[in-house]
Amino acid sequence: MSTAPVSVTTLTALKARGERIVCLTCYDASFAHLLDAAGIEVLLVGDSLGMVLQGHATTVPVTLEHMTYHSACVARGRTRALVIADLPFLTYATPEQALVSAARLMQEGGAHMVKLEGGTPLVPTVRRLTEQGVPVCAHLGLLPQSVHRLGGYRFQGRDPVSSEAIRHDALALQTAGASLLVLECVPAALAQDISASLTIPVIGIGAGAGCDGQVLVLHDLLGLNAGRPPSFSRNFLTGHASIAAAVTAYAAAVRDGSFPAAAETPY
Ligand code: KIV
Repeated sequence: MSTAPVSVTTLTALKARGERIVCLTCYDASFAHLLDAAGIEVLLVGDSLGMVLQGHATTVPVTLEHMTYHSACVARGRTRALVIADLPFLTYATPEQALVSAARLMQEGGAHMVKLEGGTPLVPTVRRLTEQGVPVCAHLGLLPQSVHRLGGYRFQGRDPVSSEAIRHDALALQTAGASLLVLECVPAALAQDISASLTIPVIGIGAGAGCDGQVLVLHDLLGLNAGRPPSFSRNFLTGHASIAAAVTAYAAAVRDGSFPAAAETPY
């Protein structure tokens, strides 16, 4: 395993070589250290922390202060992995607001990249951020920050019109300068097509094994679900004696394409 810090270039090279990228959410320094040592390439300081750490029903209450704090904790714990921090709800409503918010996540939070949820309306924002040197990860499919508009956590892109819209948005965001794309809860065939058609790496969650990489919420991987676990996740702690062994097993399963399996690919 290379010890060189993971960069955007590393991720693009992994895609070019057909090697899958391993990503997990992470919210503190201890887990950052453990995941980094296990060779996880990308640590996502997701606003899912609003649900798994703070106990909220959605990610909507998460603030820029929360994200900056947790990003800084993760940045202090890692040595090699790339750190992506989510821009939380309504902190990127205009390109200028996005710049100010991204500055906090990168300068105070130590993030290497910021993630934002949404399609073509965000093209000017992605362009503005990237022109100013901010690497951007786009996020399409199920957009958790829009849960109240979507009417629930549902798979997206299951009909021809919405799948075409996701394809179109993916290309528009790449053209605007996004370096990475997360596709959440979309049909596997759609995710595989988009991964093949884009030059930037596509990281899937609930999107089948045909993406360039996978991400899971760390707590799902460890079986720490208050209710029913998501249909696309796997408890890797089952059958493994330690958290480190579970994370290593996840990384191996992503890299050899055995995660997600058919049973973890609802559509
Ligand atoms: O907030 C988060 O953890 C995310 C992942 C589910 C991709 O956005």
